[in-house]
Amino acid sequence: MNAGKTLSEAAARLAAAGVDEAELNAQWLLSDALGVPRLNLLADPSLTVSAAALRKFKKGLALKEQGLPLAYILGWQDFRDIRIKVDKRVLVPRPETEELAGLAAAFLKTRKGPLSAMDYGSGSGAIGFWLAKEFPGLRLKSVEKSARALACAAENAAALGLAARVEFIRASTLETIAGTVDLIVSNPPYIPTGVIPGLAPEVLSEPRMSLDGGGDGLDVARMLAALAPSKLKKGGALIMELGGYQAKTLLAAMPASIWKEKRTHKDLNGIKRFAFARIG
Ligand SMILES: C[S@@+](CC[C@H](N)C(=O)[O-])C[C@H]1O[C@@H](n2cnc3c(N)ncnc32)[C@H](O)[C@@H]1O
Repeated sequence: MNAGKTLSEAAARLAAAGVDEAELNAQWLLSDALGVPRLNLLADPSLTVSAAALRKFKKGLALKEQGLPLAYILGWQDFRDIRIKVDKRVLVPRPETEELAGLAAAFLKTRKGPLSAMDYGSGSGAIGFWLAKEFPGLRLKSVEKSARALACAAENAAALGLAARVEFIRASTLETIAGTVDLIVSNPPYIPTGVIPGLAPEVLSEPRMSLDGGGDGLDVARMLAALAPSKLKKGGALIMELGGYQAKTLLAAMPASIWKEKRTHKDLNGIKRFAFARIG
């Protein structure tokens, strides 16, 4: 069987199972099974698919049909210009979180001297590790409540050659974390508990702890806003990713006597998803 026919049959099968972006998913799975870049498949549909590759591809297809995120099947997710290992221990990093990391980098560029940052709720570690790659002197605290996620982050730091600059901390509140940093960046769980049962199967296969933000989704974000001032250096910032309406609500509750600059930033879809606040 050639790549073109394999792909068209698989895409039809995924579409029939209700999988979004069926063609793209089929392309990534076949590219992985064959070990050739995805675009090569499109450029050369006559490429032969060996029996071994076909077996691997069919396994991936079946998992995709069952609603597993593509990144879990492949075992990785690209995040800006780094590749992050992901599996069911961690949330799959999203495109909007790449934007959060960009905002964090823009803030760090305004700081002088040795840089330090904390990635709170670090999951796979994507945000903090990309920042550590961008800023070679940066010292990073990677903080996580889930021991399994922290283990995945440690594997990623080692693979990216960053372990020496990263302190891994298992914690469920900022309160217990020693020292101060220039930046606390976080993509906390922010989905309201009541919304979770209605989420797509793909999302529901990700760790509940990475999704559930409590009644209004803001439990962890509120804790960060309340405790961050004592963990930030002078002029330091807290930058968070939240749901659209949540960023404004959270910032409004943060006292102007402590936070000198507060603003939302839009994501690429025009949603005011990011909360930025800086202390004096
Ligand atoms: C939305 S995920 C973000 C993961 C990763 N930073 C990313 O952007 O892909 C939220 C992460 O926060 C962790 N988490 C949840 N509650 C926490 C808490 N109270 N303290 C620390 N981490 C927490 C979850 O285990 C999960 O890894």
